[in-house]
Amino acid sequence: MHGEATPAWWQRGAIYQIYPRSFADSDGDGVGDLRGIIAHLDHLNDGTPGSLGVEAIWLSPFYRSPMADYGYDVSDYTDVDPLFGTLADFDDLLGEAHARGVKVIVDFVPNHTSDRHPWFVESRSSREDPKRDWYVWRDGGGPDRRPNDWVSNFPAVGPAWTWDERTAQWYLHSFLPQQPDLNWDNPEVEAALYDAMRFWLDRGVDGFRLDVIHAIAKDPELRSNRGSDRVHHEDWQPTIHEPLQRMSAMIDGYDDRMLVGEVYLLDLHRLVAYVNSGRELHLAHNFTFARLPWEVAAFRENIDGWEAAASDVAWPAWFLANHDHPRTASRFDHPRGTGQARARAVLLLLYAMRGTPFVYQGEELGLPDAQIPRERVVDVDGRDPERAPIPWAPPSRAGAGAGFSPGDPWLPLIADAERLNVASQREDPASTFALARRLAWLRRREPVLQVGGQRSLALGEDLLAWLRAFGGGDHAWVAVANFALQERRIGASPDLPERGVLEVSTVHGRPDEGCEVPLDGLALDGGEAVLLRLSV
Ligand code: NOJ
Repeated sequence: MHGEATPAWWQRGAIYQIYPRSFADSDGDGVGDLRGIIAHLDHLNDGTPGSLGVEAIWLSPFYRSPMADYGYDVSDYTDVDPLFGTLADFDDLLGEAHARGVKVIVDFVPNHTSDRHPWFVESRSSREDPKRDWYVWRDGGGPDRRPNDWVSNFPAVGPAWTWDERTAQWYLHSFLPQQPDLNWDNPEVEAALYDAMRFWLDRGVDGFRLDVIHAIAKDPELRSNRGSDRVHHEDWQPTIHEPLQRMSAMIDGYDDRMLVGEVYLLDLHRLVAYVNSGRELHLAHNFTFARLPWEVAAFRENIDGWEAAASDVAWPAWFLANHDHPRTASRFDHPRGTGQARARAVLLLLYAMRGTPFVYQGEELGLPDAQIPRERVVDVDGRDPERAPIPWAPPSRAGAGAGFSPGDPWLPLIADAERLNVASQREDPASTFALARRLAWLRRREPVLQVGGQRSLALGEDLLAWLRAFGGGDHAWVAVANFALQERRIGASPDLPERGVLEVSTVHGRPDEGCEVPLDGLALDGGEAVLLRLSV
């Protein structure tokens, strides 16, 4: 167990993911926009414990895009789509966030562009075009035989190759046919993308979330997946590290910027390879963790597994929800009828673990996924439910748009917006929002919760428990989450003192909260998580 004294900004507190389409709509077209975000920055951090106290925001794409994949199909990396606003709006947003001490990271999509991006329009114009090689073109066996058996990450799409009539070749797309993959083996591509990154760095952004970054390195022979369990383009890692080192060096030319990668590899050892050298990514999203079932052994094994595989310079990034995955309340609570208990325990986990918590918009409210009627489905990959707009106010007061939009929201809102909206939760000390902001500000106040070392503890059946402390053992904290449906008691442990102060429980109104309590035998409700200060 080791701890460090001075955290970087991206280690201190939560990075809050904003999906701009669904955050707040300022102009009434039913789609969220940049001015909507500006209007709600105080909710995220106004410098007081009444707000969520976020350290940084990550903005999902707002660039010019035909929106085939809702912005992950970029047609101009250096402009704002009119749907979301203008570059001037972006500059205002950046300035307003910085004025509140909130860093801003933007999503960057280096693996593919839109098929309407001028680069691809040129590339597909002829086999002789200078940009032909900027994408992955192959002959295959003519129009009836694809170059290999790779499939799109969206199962509904099927094969990852589309035949281009005019130039009689196939092009590769790891996602939609409207998202052709760039060819990172061509140095001009890498240089052009770094130019685009510099555009935003020069404007003052604090870092990037790198979309499917593991996928930029392709197997040079484009070998078939059939008959091999290891070799396919997403697993082709031998050639990824050099471009990432160059990208990292480019970022280092600026002051205090950060790279977090969407490294969608379901193997902890491969994941940590992106952060272990300290010369590539600062953070890598851990999808092995995000996809865990609600089982104590699985969580323990994953957390310990990460620590065991990580080097001394590696720093974890924890998350359990984003715009591509069902929300925690729907995954963990609803099937068991536990209300928001587990969604609340997840928040305590995220804020109390060693590592950077990533909180997806609405998680601070314990929102469930929305029910999307068949005729309102818009996403090719079933991700509409977790992308439902944020309810800012009760519909009875604010109308059907629940303060998200004065117009018709692009997706239906959750059914329970009347109860779960932001305004109501801000007023209610029992709400999940009230819990989230307490956890956030507690972490902001307590360096040991930011950069203290971490060690797992065995405190009893169904209990996930860990100690946070600096080397000398001063300022130690312990967190415990009960994964069972029934009450569980903390057992005697040589690792714990006799007593501690129960600073936070996820169960509102617990009578001994704030009190010094004996640890041996302390009872936790089903789904409850607690945070205890050991040194009084
Ligand atoms: C990952 C993004 O999070 C997802 O929303 C998108 O569809 C794919 N990458 C393709 O860019």
